[in-house]
Amino acid sequence: MNAEKRIILDVDTGIDDALAILFAVKSRKLKVEGITTGYGNCDVHQVTENTLRVLELAQPRYDIPVVMGSDNPLFRKRREFSAVIHGHNGLGGYELSGTNRTALEEKAADFIVDRINKNPDQITLVFTGRLTNLAIALAKDPTLPSKVERLILMGGALHVPGNITPVSEANIHGDPEAAYRVFHSGIPITMVGLDVTGKTKFGEKHFEQLMNALTSEQNELKAFLNHIFTFSFEASDSLNEGKYRLMHDPLAVGVAEDHTLVTCEDYYIQIETKGALSSGATLTDLRHPQTQINASVCLSVKDELFLQHYINTIVS
Ligand code: RIB
Ligand code: CA
Repeated sequence: MNAEKRIILDVDTGIDDALAILFAVKSRKLKVEGITTGYGNCDVHQVTENTLRVLELAQPRYDIPVVMGSDNPLFRKRREFSAVIHGHNGLGGYELSGTNRTALEEKAADFIVDRINKNPDQITLVFTGRLTNLAIALAKDPTLPSKVERLILMGGALHVPGNITPVSEANIHGDPEAAYRVFHSGIPITMVGLDVTGKTKFGEKHFEQLMNALTSEQNELKAFLNHIFTFSFEASDSLNEGKYRLMHDPLAVGVAEDHTLVTCEDYYIQIETKGALSSGATLTDLRHPQTQINASVCLSVKDELFLQHYINTIVS
């Protein structure tokens, strides 16, 4: 059997971040070395509390430290939270049971610097929110890029429209200067953007399958999943998009587990930091062959295989 892949997960929990955490914790192919938190779908305090409560629900089989990070982008004003998509508390309004778990005193960026330096070439970073914590870590320790195994990030859009502006995806749009620093840092990057996450539609048939597969011992988990999927279906339906939940963040974890779920092409991705509509766009110059490369960009996904694997992992 292959060794588990060691990951640090950075989240802005958030419905799909919560789904990603449950997936990562249950995965037999991953070992979560720590979860760092940042603003995004809510402020960092709410995100951290959500993360601790999701961990309590998941009951990981080993200790997973949670470390709080940034509550603001590097330089700009924080964007308003999307209550329509994630609810007023990030979890569709669901109140998970409280927990005695607490976040470490350390800051997220220091935790990343420390763990990467103690385990060079061993740790994959999986980011499902803004890249702010990593940009701060890079400023603290510019040697990190040569010691990170890979960064797998949910963010960006290459051949498809954005989801915040016509061309910008939420995680990059939320802190373009941080994304700029990360993409130009030399860290090997896999970009799991809207080109692929936009195809991962967890719909009513998947929901029914998931509910039927959960056992009576999993009632708390079932109630939570029931609520957040129902909330998500109503939200997407109210936007005339049909009833489904896009599994943005779980797919980034899925790619960490098994990169054969996606096919990628290598590009030199530039981050636009200016412009009312274009700030946060992930761009590449397709007019010429790529002379430089900084990211492997996922362009197709075995979406149904992934969704089935997700369900099987969650119910295990
Ligand atoms: O664009 C999708 C991303 O934005 C996901 O990470 C989701 O959690 C939202 O914040
Ligand atoms: Ca997220």
